[in-house]
Amino acid sequence: MSEENKKIDEFSGVETTGHEWDDIKELNNPMPRWWVWTFIVTCIWGFAYMFLYPSWPLINDYYKGYLGETNRDRVHAELSMVAQERGQFSERIKSMDLEDIDTDRELHVYALEGGRAAFGDNCAPCHGTGAQGFVGYPNLNDDDWIWGGSLEDIHYTISYGIRGVHDDTRLNDMPAYLRDELLTRDEIESVATYVQSLSDKSVTASSEGQNLFMDNCALCHGEDGKGLREFGAPNLTDAITLYVTDRDSIVDIISYSRSGVMPTWNGRLDEATIKSLAIYVHSLGGGE
Ligand code: HEC
Ligand code: HEC
Repeated sequence: MSEENKKIDEFSGVETTGHEWDDIKELNNPMPRWWVWTFIVTCIWGFAYMFLYPSWPLINDYYKGYLGETNRDRVHAELSMVAQERGQFSERIKSMDLEDIDTDRELHVYALEGGRAAFGDNCAPCHGTGAQGFVGYPNLNDDDWIWGGSLEDIHYTISYGIRGVHDDTRLNDMPAYLRDELLTRDEIESVATYVQSLSDKSVTASSEGQNLFMDNCALCHGEDGKGLREFGAPNLTDAITLYVTDRDSIVDIISYSRSGVMPTWNGRLDEATIKSLAIYVHSLGGGE
């Protein structure tokens, strides 16, 4: 439009575009400059983004973007970094002595966390999530140990198991006194009373019961009945029991024996995990 042809709206004094409908004129008010620039910049941004990152759907696929970036790759990268960090810890745990790991603050914390997780995955079905145990499955929180509660003992038990499949597994079986006809029913009743008297002062045992105990049981459970760890024979004088719930259960155990099985973990779990488990179990409260 040339200068002469410029039409000015009389009412507002603003130039018109020359378009007119039923006497209504269109004023020539351009978009503000800042708005136009923002619009242009967002368009450039948008196109650049579509070019660089995954955007358009295709028939069987999608446009992967110039940078080829995906969230999945990013997660993979982060995970491999974590794995690398863990690897360093695991290597150190594997090569260090249990005592040294236990006194190294950083490693100790790492081993505890790893041990806790591995315990939930592998041990909780038998020992309970809080390691509180069940009848036949020992509580690992107390200081009543059947086979020993030092770091080394616990590490050994976890590695090779009890009556497990490894050649070095902890092994010892209590005789079944009735089934194998080693004692008569009456003798079993009287030695059972003696066992009861060890933890319950209100029970008085006969001297026959005591003699039977010394002759048959003291070899494994000790003359004082406090148990011998080298034989995995539990302490019979305290309130913590593995199987015993009442007198009938004592008679039953003497008659038919028990042989609890704890799996061998050597070969099923790596050494760093087994060590972490030992440190975790040792920390539960009863560690020696
Ligand atoms: C299949 C069941 C089972 C699983 C799984 C199991 N245990 Fe055991 N565990 C037992 C039994 C049973 C005993 C007692 C064995 C006995 O009668 O002497 C035992 C004993 C132990 C002892 C010895 C306790 C003591 O007083 O000396 C420790 C330590 C132990 N388990 C740790 C673990 C850890 C750690 C795991 C996981 C890696 C685990 N157990 C998994 C059944 C299991
Ligand atoms: C050869 C060794 C051995 C001899 C001998 C032996 N025991 Fe045991 N006894 C054990 C072992 C090992 C256990 C644990 C079994 C298990 O962990 O499954 C045990 C467990 C027990 C328990 C259960 C303890 C608990 O905490 O629940 C009682 C009770 C018991 N024995 C009594 C006796 C009596 C009584 C005699 C003698 C008549 C006897 N034992 C002889 C090895 C022996």
